[in-house]
Amino acid sequence: MKTLIKDVTLITMNPSREVFPGYLVVEDNIITEIGRGKAPVHSHQPHRFDKIVPGKGRIALPGFVQTHVHLCQTLFRGQADDLQLMDWLRKRIWPLEAAHDEESIYISAQLGIAELIRGGTTAIVDMETVHHTECAIRALQESGMRALVGKVMMDTGGNVPTGLQENTNESIEESVRLLEKWNGYDNGRIRYAFAPRFVISCSDDLLTEVGKLSRHYNVPVHTHASENREEISLVEVTRGMRNIQFLQKIGLTGPNLILAHCIWLDDSEKRILADDQVKVTHCPSSNLKLASGFCPVPELQSMGVHVSLGADGAPCGNNLDMFLEMRLAALIHKPTNGETSMSAYTVLEMATLGGARAMGLEQEIGSLEAGKKADLILVNLEKPSAYPSVSTDPVSRLVYSGKSSDVEWVMIDGKVVLDEGKLLTLSERE
Ligand code: GUN
Ligand code: FE
Repeated sequence: MKTLIKDVTLITMNPSREVFPGYLVVEDNIITEIGRGKAPVHSHQPHRFDKIVPGKGRIALPGFVQTHVHLCQTLFRGQADDLQLMDWLRKRIWPLEAAHDEESIYISAQLGIAELIRGGTTAIVDMETVHHTECAIRALQESGMRALVGKVMMDTGGNVPTGLQENTNESIEESVRLLEKWNGYDNGRIRYAFAPRFVISCSDDLLTEVGKLSRHYNVPVHTHASENREEISLVEVTRGMRNIQFLQKIGLTGPNLILAHCIWLDDSEKRILADDQVKVTHCPSSNLKLASGFCPVPELQSMGVHVSLGADGAPCGNNLDMFLEMRLAALIHKPTNGETSMSAYTVLEMATLGGARAMGLEQEIGSLEAGKKADLILVNLEKPSAYPSVSTDPVSRLVYSGKSSDVEWVMIDGKVVLDEGKLLTLSERE
């Protein structure tokens, strides 16, 4: 299958940061050609392409990568919008997760995936709940979405409903079973990451073993850290040190660690994140809604920390909308750090290449370059609702005035999954 997208504005996210009008060719699941200007369609070669996609008035860019979501929580949104994190978990989310069954997890995942694809997200790092993770993996596999997914692990900690508390060995055995079955599935589109929930819901034994297993299998660890003041004080009380220091001591910090939130950090912890090349996920809308605080993204980036973006399970629009996360990320530091603290380009890079890097996939996805996998989207920013008009910088327009409903076409691993704004079912896909 050979597809040409022609007459399109390309935001490549390549090392030279090139944005230009041109065309792009996809063969099977790989981008094979990118060029400026008119596409190479010749009258003597009318059948060179199986499909030609018109790009006029559209922007082509790499699909968004959200590096922290909970598909299992899609059905619970809007239930406790006024609570802060620990009440939200204890009073609402943990009892609801404990009540999930196979069907509700599957439906929750399907709903979340539909929102993600409609809004141009093509890859996610997903943390499920204790049980039935395989149902969410099935939904991911059927949807065509690229995902790094893991069953949540929680073998200790206060106020967890009985149905959610695991014993250490069961938690590890089930995680390893899922990893061995699913990691690398569908040509590497589905991958596994260990997902201990956060330090205060895990024993030292569990965390130590997760570190060893992640090195043994060379898979990432995905967890929450330093999101909330009560959480970090519980770590100090039980472990006698700061949260990130403890993660380092127990052997978890390194380039394979994906840490969501990272709000309440002292200087020594910021240094660890930089020195150990930890991947931080910024979740601006969730951080506002759960009254968690502000992740010091500009400072972390200036220290060399990799930061990407995710909607988490409690996004403030109650939608897994990367445009909202980008816009909030761009706005949130302006009042304190000044207008240049995070440019629209920096934010878009966090939403694409930065996410790919966090997933360990920067050689495969995250930019439009020949040889990379075809995870890309077409966005129409010429609708009357998209103000201002075409003449301005497309990156700035995407970040400050783009909406999920402007996404018209989505390709993941060479398969079209959204066409003219409509999700395609498995049988409709080519
Ligand atoms: N910390 C521990 N569990 C959770 C969760 O499910 N969501 C968020 N945002 N933070 C957490
Ligand atoms: Fe979360």
